[in-house]
Amino acid sequence: LAACAVPMAAETRAAAGPKNDTATKRAFPPGFVWGTATAAYQVEGAVKADGRGQSIWDAYTHTPGKVADGSNGDMADDDYHRYPEDIALMRSLGAGGYRFSVAWPRIFPNGGGRPNPKGVDFYKRLVDALHEAGIEPYCTLYHWDLPEALQRKGGWQNRDTAKAFADYAGYMAGQLDGRVQHFMTMNEISTFIGNGYGGTTMAPGLGLKGQALAQARHHALLGHGLAVQAIRAATGAKTKVGSAEGIDAPMPAYDAPEHVVAARKAALEENAGYLTAMHTGRYTDLYLKTLGADAPKFTPEEMRIIGSKTDFQGLNVYTGNYYIAADNERGYEAVPFPSSYPRMQSSWIQFAPDAMYWGPKLMAEALGISDIYITENGTSSTAAPDAEGRVLDIDRVMFLRQYLGELQRGIAHGAPVRGYFLWSLLDNFEWSRGYSERFGITWVDFATQKRTPKLSAMFYRDVIASNAV
Ligand code: NOJ
Repeated sequence: LAACAVPMAAETRAAAGPKNDTATKRAFPPGFVWGTATAAYQVEGAVKADGRGQSIWDAYTHTPGKVADGSNGDMADDDYHRYPEDIALMRSLGAGGYRFSVAWPRIFPNGGGRPNPKGVDFYKRLVDALHEAGIEPYCTLYHWDLPEALQRKGGWQNRDTAKAFADYAGYMAGQLDGRVQHFMTMNEISTFIGNGYGGTTMAPGLGLKGQALAQARHHALLGHGLAVQAIRAATGAKTKVGSAEGIDAPMPAYDAPEHVVAARKAALEENAGYLTAMHTGRYTDLYLKTLGADAPKFTPEEMRIIGSKTDFQGLNVYTGNYYIAADNERGYEAVPFPSSYPRMQSSWIQFAPDAMYWGPKLMAEALGISDIYITENGTSSTAAPDAEGRVLDIDRVMFLRQYLGELQRGIAHGAPVRGYFLWSLLDNFEWSRGYSERFGITWVDFATQKRTPKLSAMFYRDVIASNAV
């Protein structure tokens, strides 16, 4: 990680002050997992290599007008070929974990049928190389790249997709059994259903409304539940199964007891279509009442499957929503962010370190979750190479320092968080924003594929080394 290192002799470092000062440093628990995260379509490239099939993201990005800078994931970070170099980057951070995703169309190019051994082998090589570097793999089975062949049959609007997903998930988990101990079924159901099925800003961009949308969401939940069971059936007892869901973290406007109670209620109701259903096996009365005639059709058996017991919950935490107590049916009221409230480069990331204190804590309390991983946290930044080629992304450093400080405080107050995966190891393909929003702690020159650690990588390396912030 030479690029941004400020040269400093060991004595200078020791004398420099609070860095090694245990009185002011706030420590994380021993054994806390520090990692980075990526997803297949965002980093791999090599979209035609070794028999990979088409995904809905190939189709979407090759439709003019869908992606801000007209780009696509054809090359991305070329991590499919450069993963040894990327693992070396993780190693120099001292990271102990890596969250990646498997591209379903590499394993089953048409969604199902006969598996593609070359696709499977890539992930075996990746996982073996991680182990050689002393890095524990955390594997997500669905990070939005649905085989296009299944979309032609309705995608998540079709109940059969849930079954196809479970078949793929079980098969892949079986292939990696013994090499991977933590599997996540899906990444952010809320986002791919909300923006891809409800909205048009993500693949497949359907813009559904009403019952059709609620039903697609229900099928995705069902896919999660069936996959939990399939992974368990295909792997040994040591395997841990969960999912990675995005939340707008519930936060009390300030920590008065009535507002904390309000935010805890919001934790349940605002996630009723996702985490609450997955952890309780039911839709809340308010959820069904609010949807009315648009409510999903479901059977008690499906709800039992959706509520299949998991071993951990991954939370992707970038920002949150503030709540105050209110005398209404819900018992809470969301407080909108005034326009003067600070944001990061990506306009949806309100700078809210409180999210990292309250999010995991209140979700755990509201849903009885005993083990949480922060499966994503980070920010985009406009920082770019200076005249000396350094990327001094002090906005990201500031963001991470504040969020990690609140995470440490939350854990000290009982939030059951076992690890943290920074999004992202590398600048990568940021969906409909293309390459215009860079989330990496490593700069990638997309013309040459040269990687350069940013200042934030140095910061993160120090956090990991001291297990403290
Ligand atoms: C959540 C998604 O899981 C990931 O794919 C995305 O790049 C980050 N958030 C940043 O938007």
